[in-house]
Amino acid sequence: AGSELRFDGKVAVVTGAGQGLGRSHALLLARRGAKVVVNDRGGALDGTGASAGPAADVAELIGKEGGEAVASTDDVATPEGAQALVAAALDAFGRIDIVVNNAGILRDKSFGKMSVEEFDAVLAVHVRGSFLVSRAAFPHMKEQAYGRIVNTSSPAGLFGNFGQANYSTAKMGLVGFTKTLGIEGARANIKANAIAPVAWTRMTEALLPAEFESRFTPERISPLVAYLAHESCPVSGEVFSVGAGRVARVFVAEGPGWRTDDLTVEAIRDNWDAVMTEQPYLQPTALGEQATASLQAMLRP
Ligand code: NAI
Repeated sequence: AGSELRFDGKVAVVTGAGQGLGRSHALLLARRGAKVVVNDRGGALDGTGASAGPAADVAELIGKEGGEAVASTDDVATPEGAQALVAAALDAFGRIDIVVNNAGILRDKSFGKMSVEEFDAVLAVHVRGSFLVSRAAFPHMKEQAYGRIVNTSSPAGLFGNFGQANYSTAKMGLVGFTKTLGIEGARANIKANAIAPVAWTRMTEALLPAEFESRFTPERISPLVAYLAHESCPVSGEVFSVGAGRVARVFVAEGPGWRTDDLTVEAIRDNWDAVMTEQPYLQPTALGEQATASLQAMLRP
């Protein structure tokens, strides 16, 4: 029980909000009282092309529902675009409290065939875009000693996926980005977290079985985004797997390990099972802690 979680007086930027997950996030935040900048370049799944339609449609829908929104077609992958996007929030609504970095593209290709261009293009939108938009918003969040950033990772990045060397690199990169942002934002009450969703959108409709469409809806992802974007969000630097209404914490852990004073190639071979052991794992939440926990294990007699 308890009261409804609201966003009255808060201003959110949602990137890639012209359709799919971002659209659903923007609608939910607006229905809960947030003023929203609906950003979307409106291109194809591979990032080519552009259209003002998708962002405008979602902003218009929010207005029809009685909410407040403006549309932006800024390209999050360029410094100018990211600056303009944050400026749009300040111009329209006078502040910025929430950034949902959701914009994304795909250029799937098996590794042997992946071009440098295909690698760079995907990192540019996901990693550079999240960096640039957060970077443009960060000084304003620091100034007001308040901010919430939600990044969009992926199971493909956390666990790997055939044909997605570029996308996996980007999505795991966002985990590191989220953790460091969480640490650096802490003093100014800026919290950063990430989601790793599974949902039926144009990005996945060709991959997921048809019967997933009704269960894996974007609307079953957005409540987690809203909670992580809310004032009452209890965590920072965390990653959550979410899909079809299920939410689970994902964490990076280190096994207990095995040590010897005489580490040789053969000793490693002969103790491989101990090296590979998972339990009891260490689960550091920052490099300082990782160093402490791992150093203790390294210094164990
Ligand atoms: P989508 O293709 O429906 O939405 C992505 C939106 O981002 C598009 O509307 C696109 O125009 C926009 N966009 C792309 N490049 C942009 C740029 N440079 N600047 C501004 N906007 C840009 O796909 P979906 O599924 O809604 O994806 C949203 C996010 O969730 C992406 O980051 C994706 O990688 C991630 N994700 C989705 C999963 C799923 O199951 N649908 C699984 C894991 C991650």
